[in-house]
Amino acid sequence: MKRKIVVGNWKMNGSLAFNEALLKALVEKIPKALSLDIIVCSPYPYLFQVQSFLKKSPIRWGAQNVAKFESGAFTGEVSVSMLKEFGSSYVIIGHSERSTAYCESDENIATKFMMVKKAAMTPILCVGETLIEREAGIMEKVISKQLDTIIKMYGEEIFDQTVIAYEPIWAIGSDMAASPEQAQAMHHFIREKLSLHTNVSKSLKIIYGGSVNPQNALQLFSMPDVDGGLLGRASLNASDFQSICHSAEI
Ligand code: PGA
Repeated sequence: MKRKIVVGNWKMNGSLAFNEALLKALVEKIPKALSLDIIVCSPYPYLFQVQSFLKKSPIRWGAQNVAKFESGAFTGEVSVSMLKEFGSSYVIIGHSERSTAYCESDENIATKFMMVKKAAMTPILCVGETLIEREAGIMEKVISKQLDTIIKMYGEEIFDQTVIAYEPIWAIGSDMAASPEQAQAMHHFIREKLSLHTNVSKSLKIIYGGSVNPQNALQLFSMPDVDGGLLGRASLNASDFQSICHSAEI
């Protein structure tokens, strides 16, 4: 069985005081020797604070987005090298809240994915369908298209040592998580799609995101193709986060 991974996506939440309390509680609650990977993705301005609190713990950290350019005249953007300076090892790419609010194209997302990989950090690529697409039965087609853009631009082997987060858009922030069977079916589909390349099928982790909570985590994580979770709201509460991490322990 693969080592599982649980990622907290703080989104645009937190403050210096709130983060300090949360990070202290996480360090205290989470055991030193872990049988899973735990990652915290904070807003950019807090990366230094997150690094300071977590550097001596087994928890890793990262960002929620990155620029598709290396440096230069791109007002408001943050580059991969800046993230690395603060010890980030993971970057969430293509979260649906960003692709809808800022009209991010699949090509942009693919370029960012490559930039993160090239900088020796791990991209966490979010893919997912809307409720209308699910009801129309075209969810596999939608996910395929999101992956195909990356495959077309960089080849399937770029998925080696990366993370894909299946996040049905209807399940995010909604209290309507996908059922373990729905998650399993899509994770299996993604794994099969990328199984041509041996390295990729061995090293790729496919995690589920969308209303994961302490009550549903164990069932979701018990599915054979679910390698962990991407958590929004539950990552802002140390007890919930710890309980979900516990459900992901082998
Ligand atoms: P949620 O968010 O856990 O609050 O539903 C998940 C996500 O958007 O990553």
